[in-house]
Amino acid sequence: MTIEGGVGCPVSGITRQQLFQESTGLPNQKFLVTSALPYANGPLHLGHIAGAYLPADVFVRYQRLKGNDVLFICGSDEHGTAITVQADSQGVTPQALVDRHHAVLKKSFEDFGIRFDNYSRTSLPLHHETSQEFFLQIHRKGVLVRRAVKQLYCPRCQLFLADRLITGTCPHCQQPGAKGDQCEKCGKPIDPLEIRGAQCVRCKSQPEARESLHWFFPLDRYQERLREWLASKPHWKANVLNFCKGVFESGKGLEERCITRDLPWGVPLPLPDSAGKVLYVWFDAPIGYISSTKEWAARTGNPDRWKEYWCDPTVRLVHFIGKDNIFFHALLFPAMLMEHGGFVLPDQIPANEFLNLEGEKFSTSRNYAVWLHEYLQRFPADALRYSLARIAPEAKDTDFSWREFQGHHNNELADILGNFIHRSLTFAGRYFGNRLPVRGPPDASDSAFLDAMEKAPGEMGALLDNFQVRDAAVRMMDLARAGNLYFDQQQPWRTRRENPERCATTLHLCVQACRVLATLTQPILPSSSDALWRMLGLPGRAADHPWVSADPRALPEGHALGQPEILFRKIEDSMIEAEIVRLKSMARPAEAVASATSPAPAVQPRKLEVPLVTETISYDEFARLDLRVAEVVAAERIAGADKLLKLTVRLGPETRTIVAGIALHYAPESLLGRRIVVVANLKPARIRGVESQGMLLAASEAEKLALVTLDGAIESGSQVR
Ligand code: MF3
Ligand code: ZN
Repeated sequence: MTIEGGVGCPVSGITRQQLFQESTGLPNQKFLVTSALPYANGPLHLGHIAGAYLPADVFVRYQRLKGNDVLFICGSDEHGTAITVQADSQGVTPQALVDRHHAVLKKSFEDFGIRFDNYSRTSLPLHHETSQEFFLQIHRKGVLVRRAVKQLYCPRCQLFLADRLITGTCPHCQQPGAKGDQCEKCGKPIDPLEIRGAQCVRCKSQPEARESLHWFFPLDRYQERLREWLASKPHWKANVLNFCKGVFESGKGLEERCITRDLPWGVPLPLPDSAGKVLYVWFDAPIGYISSTKEWAARTGNPDRWKEYWCDPTVRLVHFIGKDNIFFHALLFPAMLMEHGGFVLPDQIPANEFLNLEGEKFSTSRNYAVWLHEYLQRFPADALRYSLARIAPEAKDTDFSWREFQGHHNNELADILGNFIHRSLTFAGRYFGNRLPVRGPPDASDSAFLDAMEKAPGEMGALLDNFQVRDAAVRMMDLARAGNLYFDQQQPWRTRRENPERCATTLHLCVQACRVLATLTQPILPSSSDALWRMLGLPGRAADHPWVSADPRALPEGHALGQPEILFRKIEDSMIEAEIVRLKSMARPAEAVASATSPAPAVQPRKLEVPLVTETISYDEFARLDLRVAEVVAAERIAGADKLLKLTVRLGPETRTIVAGIALHYAPESLLGRRIVVVANLKPARIRGVESQGMLLAASEAEKLALVTLDGAIESGSQVR
């Protein structure tokens, strides 16, 4: 790989990893590992995790155990039209929107055990400066082309309209209400300038075509260089190579890309006369990998150290992504890096295919997803890490199902791995004074088991080196399976009396296998590995001991063991059924979403005064509210309290009194016979001397108030959810 001028690359002093390497004789390859920066406009679901995050974390943990020097980088992608459109529709600033989501993203990664060295965000000044310098460096080389582009502009909103902010009649099929990027009816892409009767989605006024000057990156001129470079990567995944080949061979091949936008949010274009212009989000986001590394270097006390990763040609840069990001990581960003000069190019791009959910696609707009932060409120991280590793969409799209998840957990983690560890450690505890028994001369089945233990780390490691998390998880489980088989064949419960020496050897090997497993489980099941380490009576963590220490001779005879615990408790059917119900009940039907995205009624643009949605709660927290249909059977004013009404309501067989602050909005008689919604399990409270036995639901906006009523004849006392 060639490194061209540009940024200087100072040679560093001795690092911790170099010391580790010298003392252990292990290899010391430097890795710079990145996971795609998630958009800060929503939480993470399992599809994201299975694609770009879990496989990366597993790889990183493993490479560290091998003694390699790994820097693991990520951050939130906070720019782009999607974020401005969403902020706009919620009546908040883009910054407020990304602040909220960035916090949730960062925390769920932490809780899931994804251990980035740095998790940054692209709205930081450091990132803006880094992207601007990057842009200027290639701009100075004179390669960028400036062209006038005709675009729709809304004079009322004073905004160049992003495609999805334009609606009108589809020029192909005459469908009204089509969006400016693609027609939902005929599926054809729409040139926004050709849409008929175009309207601004925000204010309904008629936009006009205006010219705007934009900068283009001549990606077409890189086609040959990229092709040659990719030819030197025959070992890359087929999905990446085929995608690129497809682009090179289709129609015109690589085409120039517009890398600026007229938007009020993003990295400002660092050129004179560029007010209102920002860098295209896909130009600045990958530079986020560099700025996040810079942030890490500054935070760890040596601001120049980022260059030890980005500018050292021996570093292996690995981008973990989902397949929808291949274009940007295998073509656009490498071309940008080539043009800029001085940076390493990706050494590997292990792109993953997609994960589906119970046979359907994940859909954020339909709320059809399992959200990571919600999962983590109900189940342990390792259960999901294992299940997702087992179904990693490495070569084709795969499917997550709750039943299969339960199976992976109960039948493999609990019944195979957990069971082997538990029976070995409790047996050694009970019959060998909780110490590692002495190993006698091995017989044939001991030798076979020893052999399995000796081979497992190398075999699992080779799979992990090759980004095959799925097979690696199977290989890890195979060792535990072999352990159970060995235990059953040896029948230590019999040899204990008949042949104590044999029994000791059996248990010796089983406990040594647990020690080997403590290392092998580190990448995929980090917290279970930590727990196992403690049960083995070992100080510190498995993570502090190299992969090669996973050896059937690692523990000395007589070694004092710790306390065995249950590693994986069975997940009950009812828990899984609740998840399936939750998934189906929270999802919106596709038609509802389609109509929700069709044009909104004409409104004046105004700042919405609605409060921000508060923190997410779990379904269980929501389910604690007992909401019921109530029928109003009597209503009267309360003397001396002009805002209050005293209502008598029927809740099925029960009658209750409820005091409500609705007297300014509803006359008592107007309420008789109405069915409303009340919180039935609220602690009673005395209001103006009357005991209120519940609370009714009403919506309010400034001075306005409206009762929540029912769209259909439902019996009083029925539950509302
Ligand atoms: N935010 C993008 C997505 O979720 C990924 C950006 S990756 C980066 O698809 F390289 F641009 F950072
Ligand atoms: Zn407008």
